[in-house]
Amino acid sequence: MDLGAIRRITSRLWGPVCAVTAAHEGDAGGQIAVGVLSASILPEHPRVLIQIWKANRTHDLIAASHAFAVHPLAADHADLVRQLGFRSGHDREGKLNEIAWTPGITGSPILAATPGFVECRVVGILDATDMTVFLGDVVAGEWHDGETPMVQAYEMIGAMSPEWQEEYRRHDLAQREAAAHLLNSATNGSPA
Ligand SMILES: Cc1cc2nc3c(=O)[nH]c(=O)nc-3n(C[C@H](O)[C@H](O)[C@H](O)COP(=O)(O)O)c2cc1C
Repeated sequence: MDLGAIRRITSRLWGPVCAVTAAHEGDAGGQIAVGVLSASILPEHPRVLIQIWKANRTHDLIAASHAFAVHPLAADHADLVRQLGFRSGHDREGKLNEIAWTPGITGSPILAATPGFVECRVVGILDATDMTVFLGDVVAGEWHDGETPMVQAYEMIGAMSPEWQEEYRRHDLAQREAAAHLLNSATNGSPA
């Protein structure tokens, strides 16, 4: 396989940068995700699909609560992307402490400073070894911000300072290593 050619295609298939949040038994968390997709052609039955890596704290909160919220972000949300996407709630308690939010109808945190959100209850789960695909029925949603354009990850990260880009690369590498470990453990037949 020509992995270079394949990557040129797959890198174009990521969605816009989003914040994904969830909460369970008083524990609230959130992360950044580009593995986010609309999953219904029926406007009266909206669904959203998200891909969440198993090493993430938010993964455990979604798996436990069977609910999540997705907030599409704009180019001026670089601070939020760094807060939620460059470090894990596993390493830092109270990750949402410095971010304004209120609980939605599923209990998932709704972040104040975002253009809008959809809130979902999980109706389908695909275990993909290193990550889980969660399919959610949309149960609530709001849009406040007119025509705010969404932003792709390469634009968002590319506009950051060299220091932040380096921080991103370090965290991304650690996440890839965790994913490779889970996949290799599964291939070798040993428990992850
Ligand atoms: C631009 C960007 C895109 C990301 N996309 C995803 C994604 O699609 N799925 C995922 O699970 N993690 C993704 N991440 C990584 C998580 O946001 C990151 O590992 C985060 O620290 C996890 O936090 P948590 O452990 O508190 O849940 C992305 C990060 C960034 C910065």
